Amino acid sequence: MDKLIITGGASLNGEIRISGSKNSALPVLAATLLCDEKMRVCNLPHLQDITTMIELLGQMGVDLIIDDKLNLEVEANTIKELHAPYELVKTMRASILVLGPMLAHFGEAHVSLPGGCAIGSRPVDLHIHGLRAMGADIEVENGYIHASVKGRLRGARIVLETVTVTGTENLMMAAALAEGQTILENAAREPEVVDLAECLNRMGADVKGAGTDTIVINGRDRLHGCDYNVIPDRIETGTYLVAGAISRGKVKLKQTRPDILDAVLLKLEEAGAHIATGDDWVELDMKGNRPRSVNVRTAPYPAFPTDMQAQFTALNAVAEGTGTIIETVFENRFMHVSELNRMGAQISLEGNTAIIKGVEQLTGAPVMATDLRASAGLVLAGLVANGDTLVDRIYHIDRGYECIEEKLQMLGATIHRIPS
Ligand code: UD1
Repeated sequence: MDKLIITGGASLNGEIRISGSKNSALPVLAATLLCDEKMRVCNLPHLQDITTMIELLGQMGVDLIIDDKLNLEVEANTIKELHAPYELVKTMRASILVLGPMLAHFGEAHVSLPGGCAIGSRPVDLHIHGLRAMGADIEVENGYIHASVKGRLRGARIVLETVTVTGTENLMMAAALAEGQTILENAAREPEVVDLAECLNRMGADVKGAGTDTIVINGRDRLHGCDYNVIPDRIETGTYLVAGAISRGKVKLKQTRPDILDAVLLKLEEAGAHIATGDDWVELDMKGNRPRSVNVRTAPYPAFPTDMQAQFTALNAVAEGTGTIIETVFENRFMHVSELNRMGAQISLEGNTAIIKGVEQLTGAPVMATDLRASAGLVLAGLVANGDTLVDRIYHIDRGYECIEEKLQMLGATIHRIPS
């Protein structure tokens, strides 16, 4: 397994380009299954999760053409197997996103139940409940979701008990080809949901209200192809901003969208960062100062994203003062805490709250990545620790950060990959 070795101490300075959003790309790739024509998806990030989704489409027999820029052409009607196998789904929970489109377009879908994962049990009951409300017959047997529908799915009013991002996306995609109107209440408002709605509308769907908690979808008989560029990755953007903040540096991120990062930018300013933004760039300057501790509470968009929680835990670990971080989205998302404490951080956990007393200096140590964003937190801590930090199991990082070591090197960090 590859490892990353980071020698801490450099103040980051420079400019980098942000990649396409993983969490937008995954549902948009799944949405290609709704289409009756060729569909082209662009600005895909080079990431393991994207490769897994492409592999999943390929295994189902869908014709795919990928060019050297990773633009992908998909022809869904060539599908041969309406089956998403355990071997792929277990490596990426977002594979569940093929359930809604496959069922709506082809009348049948067999998708492995995703297992638990490091950050909590993460059920998919709301996806299943919503599809049943639209007339699907669904049985869960031998670890698989077997879904079928006679004729077309029917529009329905669905009240989601919890705000779920992929749940909202799955149901929105299914509804795009259902008969009649679907109303999703308590829908997720994440920018990735809005991006998917935009993509569906370009394919001829009628989706209104994405970005609010009520989404109304008037189903269409068929959807046509289009070229679609996914939005920039707001979590990658936020992570590099924290890299600038934690190292008391100055970083400029290009080809991104500061308008979908409000909650994160506010907290960075509270931590002492000077932030400047344009339409497609954001710059952070710490003017050489140590960050101040901030209190953070994660919640669905537009509140502070759970996917930035580990990075802010690392930031608070070296900040001036004491900060608390409350995680309300996932029940077990503090696995980076024990690793950060091994690097000299002073973090105590009380239920879903981390209390972080900032220390002057962390010390490098061998640490283990446990999930995608936790790993990012460890890399950030390594950037400012005294000496070397060896981050093991970085396949987690490769699921979500394109060329992380190259990008950090461009900002002046001393970081190298040690291939296994
Ligand atoms: C998505 C993101 C992930 C992010 C998360 C929360 C993708 C591919 N992943 O994950 O990066 O951390 O949103 O912003 O977009 N829940 C249920 N039943 C369900 C579905 C969800 O109880 O059927 C619960 C979950 O256990 C969790 C909460 O709802 O506590 C939110 O999860 P959800 O928004 O569904 O996360 P994902 O869509 O899996």
